[in-house]
Amino acid sequence: MLSENLLNKLNTQVTLEFYSSNLYLQMSAWCDYKGLPGSAKFFKEHAKEEMSHMQKIFDYIQDTGALAIIDAIEKPEIDFSDLKNLYTTTYNHEKMITKQINEIVDIALNEKDYSTFNFLQWYVSEQHEEEKLFKSILDKIEIIGLDGRGLFMVDKEIGNIVIR
Ligand code: FEO
Repeated sequence: MLSENLLNKLNTQVTLEFYSSNLYLQMSAWCDYKGLPGSAKFFKEHAKEEMSHMQKIFDYIQDTGALAIIDAIEKPEIDFSDLKNLYTTTYNHEKMITKQINEIVDIALNEKDYSTFNFLQWYVSEQHEEEKLFKSILDKIEIIGLDGRGLFMVDKEIGNIVIR
C-alpha cells in the first residue's frame, strides 16, 4: 500500500510526465514552423514516449489500489531563440525530472516501500538515457555549429535518431 506522501509524489510525477509530453509536442510544432523536419519528427516521437512514462506511473498507482489523480497541466513554453536554446531547455528539463525521480526513490527507500523502490528503478535508468540523449544532441550542435549548412546538417542528424 502506498503512503499518502508517496501517492502524492507519484501523482505529481504523472502530471509532470504529461507536461513533458505537451512540452515536446509544442517543441515539435515550433521545429516544424521553423522548417526543421528532423527535430519536429524527433519531438513528436518523444512526446509519445513521455505519454508512456505517464501511463506506467498511472497504472502502478491504480495497481496498488490507490487513486491516480491528474492535476492541471502547466502551459508549455512556446518560443525559443534558436535550436541550441531549445535543446538546452530540454536538457535542463530532463535534469529537473531526474531530480524529482531521485526524490521519490529516496522516500520509497526511507519508507521501506521496496515494491515502489523496485518500480522506480526503470525510471532511474530511463532518466540516465534521457540526459545522455539530450546532452549528445547539444554536443552535436557544439561540434557542427548552426551557421550556414550547419543547421541543416544538425537537424538531419537529429531526424535519424531512433526513439526506443
Ligand atoms: Fe519522462 Fe523525458 O522523461
